[in-house]
Amino acid sequence: MKNTLVLRVDPDKPDADKIWRAAGFIRCGGLVAFPTETVYGLGADALNGEAVLALFEAKKRPLDNPPIVHVSDVKDVRRLVKEIPSGAEVLMEEFWPGPLTLIFRRSDVVPSVTVAGLGTIAVRIPRHEVALALIKESGCPVAAPSANLAGRPSPTSAGHVLDDLDGRIDAVLDAGPTVIGVESTVLDLTVCPPAMLRPGGTSFEALKKVLLRVELSPFVLAEKLLSVGEVRSPGVKYKHYAPKAEVVVVEGELRAVVEKVKGLVEVYKHEGRKVGVLCTDETEACYGEADVVLSLGSRSDLAGVAHRLFGLLREFDRDKADVIVAEGLPAEGIGLAVVNRLRKAAGYRIVKV
Ligand code: TXA
Ligand code: MG
Repeated sequence: MKNTLVLRVDPDKPDADKIWRAAGFIRCGGLVAFPTETVYGLGADALNGEAVLALFEAKKRPLDNPPIVHVSDVKDVRRLVKEIPSGAEVLMEEFWPGPLTLIFRRSDVVPSVTVAGLGTIAVRIPRHEVALALIKESGCPVAAPSANLAGRPSPTSAGHVLDDLDGRIDAVLDAGPTVIGVESTVLDLTVCPPAMLRPGGTSFEALKKVLLRVELSPFVLAEKLLSVGEVRSPGVKYKHYAPKAEVVVVEGELRAVVEKVKGLVEVYKHEGRKVGVLCTDETEACYGEADVVLSLGSRSDLAGVAHRLFGLLREFDRDKADVIVAEGLPAEGIGLAVVNRLRKAAGYRIVKV
């Protein structure tokens, strides 16, 4: 059991002394959680195989699911990759620093454990002063998956990180809640046309404006668990984002959704279970029968919905709900990431109305 140090920092002007202390852990092979614009990441020196192994252990993450490698400058990408394909330049220019992760063919300086034995590597430059300062001060690329125990909702605050990893990591840089709230978009540049493997903070629509051709991988909007052969991202085969309660998503036209959610609440209540409803401001008043009703905000503000999603999934745990009935949301813009996370949190228990 470690004594996890909590270092409070200003999100815009982080105290150099605290960054120096946090970077000291990374340089010595330790583990530090830090904020990015998407979610909190758990960082380790990406070029130190033992440190990355410890990272997998702390998260209880399966070894075949590689983390994203974070750098602070485009010039730091070159040594990690075999080549920068044409088209990548414009993406890096347009979207970095920001919530877009690019998959390249990897170079030999990267330890095999960091990429889970794959020939490719996931890289991004985060848009957060604390993350950038930590990476610079550490003097190495920083491997950082989301700072949650494997399978749990990603952390959008230092409190969420400590709920999962207190005593398992060296330190957490606490700069308050993250802005976006869902993870980065993962785009595979090793295939032609490039393929979006995970929807996230950069929308498909925004990528389409910059790329001549880009594809949505089948599992972005999958309604069932796909086999690894069908997908190219190792992470997708695992249970994800799940609160302790069972989750069911109801999708369809809003009025029909509300009626179905009410019906399911009645059924589950009848079974003697504590029922939560995850809904929106427009529908919140409809669910008086449920034990816990949490709203993601207005349907007209999908960025706000994304921002609140993981925090509310964790909130149901605190309220000890046995089952959560969630309303589906529009799969447009950042809503695509929200729909994808909800379906996964539900283990693909989707009711269509
Ligand atoms: O916003 C984010 O992306 C956050 C912050 C901390 O940067 N990080 C994050 O990392 O979400 P993680 O490890 O939880 O998710 C990384 C995803 C996984 O689905 C993994 O399978 C995929 O990226 N991935 C990593 N390397 C890959 C590769 N070489 N090919 C395909 N997918 C890869
Ligand atoms: Mg994750």
